[in-house]
Amino acid sequence: MVKRFRRGAETVSALAGVDLRVDPGEFVALVGPSGSGKSTLLALLCGWETADEGELAYLGPLADRRPDAFGWRDLALVPQALGLVADLSLADNVLLPARLSGTLAAEEPRARSLLTAFGVDHLADRYPHQASLGEQQRVAVARALLLRPAVLLADEPTAHQDRGHADRLLDAVTDAAREGSAVLIATHDEIAWGRADRVLSMRDGVVTEGAAS
Ligand SMILES: Nc1ncnc2c1ncn2[C@@H]1O[C@H](COP(=O)(O)OP(=O)(O)OP(=O)(O)O)[C@@H](O)[C@H]1O
Ligand SMILES: [Mg+2]
Repeated sequence: MVKRFRRGAETVSALAGVDLRVDPGEFVALVGPSGSGKSTLLALLCGWETADEGELAYLGPLADRRPDAFGWRDLALVPQALGLVADLSLADNVLLPARLSGTLAAEEPRARSLLTAFGVDHLADRYPHQASLGEQQRVAVARALLLRPAVLLADEPTAHQDRGHADRLLDAVTDAAREGSAVLIATHDEIAWGRADRVLSMRDGVVTEGAAS
């Protein structure tokens, strides 16, 4: 896929010909320096942006549907800027995908257990602005995991964490893949690279297999 951004006379090739595949049950880590195109790639994969060239295909149950019609059970994203809803409590943010899919009561126990696993259960009734950035990020990951999505995309999900909390998030992401999700995370966290099934390196809008030396 190719993606260009135009700013007046200037054109930025954010993705300069990216070819990749992530299978169900696979945990793939995407690494690369700031500005290399990681967030742009995730934005294309979740349907926020469209490619200027190339094709994006979802297979299996997601085939023949447009990403903008996916629900959180199909594809869940942890954006780099988190995207929590400011006027919902942290618990209600985690439960948002269940509310939207009409399964609120059924998912309450899982929401509670994710909040507990990520050490934010005592903050459940607070609003995002009353929590630290790291706490907000753990809530955003819990929200993405709630409905066990077929595709899980996360943009630097451990960026605001200490090692202990980062490891708990990575445990949950690894479990999601073991349970069948196709997982792609952009990350600068070297521990995450070691836990992934596969590492892809991104530089100047190009992806190569393996960790760059
Ligand atoms: N809307 C936009 N308009 C113009 N240029 C953009 C836009 N979005 C991203 N870019 C440029 O595209 C390139 C890739 O940006 P991207 O956000 O994908 O990088 P990244 O690898 O996620 O970086 P980071 O590690 O800092 O999050 C950068 O050069 C960036 O400045
Ligand atoms: Mg980014």
